[in-house]
Amino acid sequence: MIDLDKPEEYSKIDQTGLLKDIQELPLQCEQAFEEIKRVVLPSYYVKINKIVILGVGGSAIGGDFVRSIIEKESKIPVFIVRDYHLPGFVDKDSLVIGVSYSGNTEETLTAFGQAISKRAKLVAITSDGKLAKTALSYKIPLYQFDYKTQPRQALGFLFASILGILNKIGHIDIKEDEFKETILLLKALNSKIKPEIEAAKNQAKKLAKELYNKIVVVVAANYLKPVALRFKTQLNENSKQMAFQQELPEACHNFVVGLKAPTNLSESVFILFLSSKFDYPRNRIRQNILLEILDKNKIPSQQLTVEPAPSILSEMLSFTTMLDHTSFYLAILNQIDPQPVSNIDYLKKRLEEAPWQK
Ligand code: PA5
Repeated sequence: MIDLDKPEEYSKIDQTGLLKDIQELPLQCEQAFEEIKRVVLPSYYVKINKIVILGVGGSAIGGDFVRSIIEKESKIPVFIVRDYHLPGFVDKDSLVIGVSYSGNTEETLTAFGQAISKRAKLVAITSDGKLAKTALSYKIPLYQFDYKTQPRQALGFLFASILGILNKIGHIDIKEDEFKETILLLKALNSKIKPEIEAAKNQAKKLAKELYNKIVVVVAANYLKPVALRFKTQLNENSKQMAFQQELPEACHNFVVGLKAPTNLSESVFILFLSSKFDYPRNRIRQNILLEILDKNKIPSQQLTVEPAPSILSEMLSFTTMLDHTSFYLAILNQIDPQPVSNIDYLKKRLEEAPWQK
């Protein structure tokens, strides 16, 4: 296994310096939360009875995070649409936020076009592309940021801007102080898990070594479900590794039975539980029982927590910081550049060539 305590060697694998973008999550959040204050939204945007966030992949997960944070308090439903078609209920009383890092993703653009036809209240979030052009030509409020990276590593911009928009229209009340406290915690965490900190004291490196050469199943309940999904996708895209996500309590009703085959399961999988002090207490009990069952079946597993986590917002982003670093260290262990996603590029290219059919 590669020695993670030789960061001077990382650039041979991380050829474009993706690590820097991973480390900049708090700076991105800070910048977007400030900049969104300058985006003007019409006053009638406060009159909405549902929120629909459009996006796929790295551009969808910020919406999942926001929904997780506001779901319990929200008086109106929040939907994330990862597809070409808008649900039939979208109308002029819907706030539709189209999110695409590149601004050129066909699913998001198609659904955004439908939202224009339905006269929904629209906002666009992007760095460029056709989404920016559409927003400008229809005079749709636009948050356009300038940050060159892979879409998934622009999470700070894509997440904090949605949060800021909902704050602006008074749908949520994220206090400036709570946000700043979270940013400080993330910066402190960054310094504990950076490459210069040796593996023996570095939780992200330790976890990467545990997960090396394993099919990883990430399990979480309640607010952490999107964080588990984020880690699964970061393992896929940064580490180029097979990974899946499960949620509680659902996994207790099916996943828990599938532990007998294939016969070499205990050598090939690792089950990682993300554990929150904000989890519904019955889900915490469920997690502990699952750990026991896995242990009896000799399936390697681990429960991960982050401290301190004074709020759901800070816990979600601290886990994300920890696990984004883990996905990077795993890319180093796998000796694969974390930046390129050639299979996604290939798919997009083939789809561009394929004719559109109704
Ligand atoms: O992480 C990635 O590169 C992908 O999941 C992209 O986010 C996805 O393909 C959508 O592209 P975009 O984020 O530019 O809309």
